[in-house]
Amino acid sequence: MSLSVPLRLEGISKRFGHVQALKPLTLDVRGGEMLALLGPSGCGKTTTLRIIAGFETPDEGSVLIGEKDITELPPNKRSLGMVFQNYCLFPHLTVGENVAFGLKMRGIPAADRAKRVRAMLELMRLGNFEERTIHQLSGGQQQRVALARSLVTDPSLLLLDEPLGALDKNLRERMQFELREIQRRLGITSILVTHDQEEALTMSDRVAVMEAGAIIQIGAPTEVYERPHSQFVSEFLGTANIFHAVVLRRVQQDMWAVRLEHGKAEMLIACAANLASGGAVKIAVRPERLKMDAPAGGGMPAMVRDVVFRGSYYAYELSIADQASPIFVYTQARKAIPADGEVTIDWSPESAILLADQAAP
Ligand SMILES: Nc1ncnc2c1ncn2[C@@H]1O[C@H](COP(=O)(O)OP(=O)(O)OP(=O)(O)O)[C@@H](O)[C@H]1O
Ligand SMILES: [Mg+2]
Repeated sequence: MSLSVPLRLEGISKRFGHVQALKPLTLDVRGGEMLALLGPSGCGKTTTLRIIAGFETPDEGSVLIGEKDITELPPNKRSLGMVFQNYCLFPHLTVGENVAFGLKMRGIPAADRAKRVRAMLELMRLGNFEERTIHQLSGGQQQRVALARSLVTDPSLLLLDEPLGALDKNLRERMQFELREIQRRLGITSILVTHDQEEALTMSDRVAVMEAGAIIQIGAPTEVYERPHSQFVSEFLGTANIFHAVVLRRVQQDMWAVRLEHGKAEMLIACAANLASGGAVKIAVRPERLKMDAPAGGGMPAMVRDVVFRGSYYAYELSIADQASPIFVYTQARKAIPADGEVTIDWSPESAILLADQAAP
């Protein structure tokens, strides 16, 4: 089967007793893309993957690979590669035997098997490891064996459930790039389940954000990060400052003046839609998009509560009048403003994201 085959989930739902793990959910994964399913614990990521793999049957809906409805097919007939958080490698078998396992199950002759195993180990830069046992490998090497084992059978779909979860931070970051590189090279349609937003943003072509059994936003990493539709998405994908404001008036085409709920300062937001003057709006601004200025500057007066050096930037925690939740600002500036310092904060109209969930605070 071709590697770059699309996958479609059509209105799949799943209930476990009283828990509605998945609401009717529809998802199109394009051929050859890496799609990340991102969401908090319990939102239904693994359930979605297990339905695709055939380990769970959906209550409703269907799963299609290409044109083919596979909803009723048993897992071993689905042509899938899977990698889990703990790899599930066979500890008593060698690397080569682990990778050959799926081929053996399929009755591939020994000579052919050996050839394919070797080619796959080369691809994973494990050429010299064939005879080793699993416990003689590092975490990253084990991860590559797991990947080799899942890819050696030429699956049409690769399913990854927290595949890097067992690795420490440095190795994890390196493996993100390696895994991504291999996936691109093979052009295999892949779904990556993670609750790590950075991992989702770095590795995938598109991110589907899940909340309580539903996909609430889907798009390219930059799109979901820069243009989240809701407070949930904006806060789940990194840090977001949420401001409640009242619309004052239209300043010019696609530009509106607002007043923050707890302040006097007028701020500008870019927005193509027609806003009702006097209406309440909710705005998100990323910490790296906020500008911090001397007390005399325009914008909102604020007080520095704390400042932390994070290696490549300073993270400021500020408070603004009458607002309980702190504001975070990340700057590259070398000279740190000390705690209790007075500043003003401002943003450019384009970096203010108008959130769609406008329910009153
Ligand atoms: N076999 C099962 N029996 C009963 N409830 C289940 C079963 N599998 C999952 N659930 C429930 O369904 C919901 C979704 O679970 P799921 O494992 O899909 O979440 P997840 O997004 O993968 O979370 P995590 O990030 O913690 O792995 C949870 O409330 C979970 O408790
Ligand atoms: Mg899970």
